[in-house]
Amino acid sequence: MTGRYLVNFDTRQLPQENWDYVILGSGIAGLYTAYAASRLNRRVVVLTKYTMEDSNTDKAQGGIAAALGHSDSPALHLKDTLAAGAGLCDPEAVSVLVNEGPGRVRELIEMGAQFDRENGQLALTREGAHSRRRILHAAGDATGAEIQRVLSGQARLAPNIEVRENHFAVDLLVQDNTCYGVLALDGSSGELKVFWGRAVVLATGGLGQLFEHSTNPLVATGDGIAMAWRAGAEVMDMEFIQFHPTVLSLPGAPPFLISEAVRGEGAYLRNRYGERFMPRYHELAELAPRDVVVRAMLKEMGSTASDRVFLDLSHLDPAMVQQRFPTISRTCSSYGLDVTKDPIPVAPAAHYMMGGVKTNLYGETSIEGLYACGEVACQGVHGANRLASNSLLDGLVFGGRIVERVNSLPPRRHGHPEFSCHELAGSPEVDAARLRQEIQSVMGKYVGPVRTAEGLEKALAFFEDWSYLAGYRARSIEEMEVWNMLAVGQLVAQAALIRTESRGGHYRLDYPQPRDLWLKHVILRR
Ligand code: SIN
Repeated sequence: MTGRYLVNFDTRQLPQENWDYVILGSGIAGLYTAYAASRLNRRVVVLTKYTMEDSNTDKAQGGIAAALGHSDSPALHLKDTLAAGAGLCDPEAVSVLVNEGPGRVRELIEMGAQFDRENGQLALTREGAHSRRRILHAAGDATGAEIQRVLSGQARLAPNIEVRENHFAVDLLVQDNTCYGVLALDGSSGELKVFWGRAVVLATGGLGQLFEHSTNPLVATGDGIAMAWRAGAEVMDMEFIQFHPTVLSLPGAPPFLISEAVRGEGAYLRNRYGERFMPRYHELAELAPRDVVVRAMLKEMGSTASDRVFLDLSHLDPAMVQQRFPTISRTCSSYGLDVTKDPIPVAPAAHYMMGGVKTNLYGETSIEGLYACGEVACQGVHGANRLASNSLLDGLVFGGRIVERVNSLPPRRHGHPEFSCHELAGSPEVDAARLRQEIQSVMGKYVGPVRTAEGLEKALAFFEDWSYLAGYRARSIEEMEVWNMLAVGQLVAQAALIRTESRGGHYRLDYPQPRDLWLKHVILRR
């Protein structure tokens, strides 16, 4: 997919607005950036695809990692993050994350976030590959919803932040490698609009919807990466996708995350014959890095001819389970499962994109005026595999740094150029819903947790077959999402084919070992 824009337009004929910040996305990264900018009296507009709460943040269960415990330190958090990242983290970026993280989390608490406490102290849990209990959680397993509540409340109250729901960012307005604004579609009126900004911030989240089985909400279609790519930005580490091991797998039920914190509190994984298998695969057993757990599960599923394994909490104190995991208990109970007694059927599902739009430590992309933070961004903090519960922290820390950077720059001296595109043909008859399913099926089959050159080439042939669509105008938000998914799926498959080794979230059956020559990043540019 190489077209520059998704629709025909002429900015001179469209309604226009001027802002200091145009922020795309309303999860923790977007809303915290908006909050930090508003504290400096900047005028901020947040464009969000559906409602403010339709974000990955709102769904996050496990929590937010920060070295706040007595026996913990940023140095230990750094060590664990680097180890999980399998040699590809940028140590400087991780140092920023773990050292600035605790202060940002305290700020969230001052803003009103109510994290769980024990005897007046913050209650900290453990998740896979953490050497200490350092995960803050809220309402047991509803951490993201609590953070979203606080940040959405701030955004609604702040007089200089405007949140526009139902606004789909179509494309970035970039000329001579400078981003001036965003072309957006108001989904309620069907009207195209132009938002000019001194800083345009991508905080659009991930791409889980590229896969049929995903923990991500329907909005996670990789739009930010696709539009940055179309505009000429560099993207990095696209081959590294994290699959979460434990997602509810029941016929007819939508994928529902069973937090890693459940294993952190002692739950076991068992195969269909009731055998606990993780100790055979890794010394950390159920708390091994996620990619290790996922491959072990897939192996057990294969050898026992089953499409799932089971999470067993029956040996844990039932009162603790109910109190720590109320959302999980309630949801499983709605499917007739008593989590304190019944094994929970689970299978892996796409969860988090380690790669994304390449940025420096201040969220600056390779395009001037365009910034990125949160899951859409890649500053190298997660390397080849993200440490559990580092993602909410990432959104806070790097969102905050964007505002510091923009504030330190002199204002842009010139106005903005006008933009237009009149080249796109009327769309051919394409069934967008069906194409979305086909993309998901190709990605699941060939670009999932286990990859081969042969499969990746098949995936690339599929994307090549559809690349002609880039010359056609997308007619609806559904089509725009699908055009974006085609672009991003192709980038993931390309990067995965280029990296002839296995590392972190990228596993190649034909190159099953890490190779020193690959201690480097794959950076792609249109
Ligand atoms: C979980 O609760 O297992 C997800 C946490 C994360 O992905 O960081």
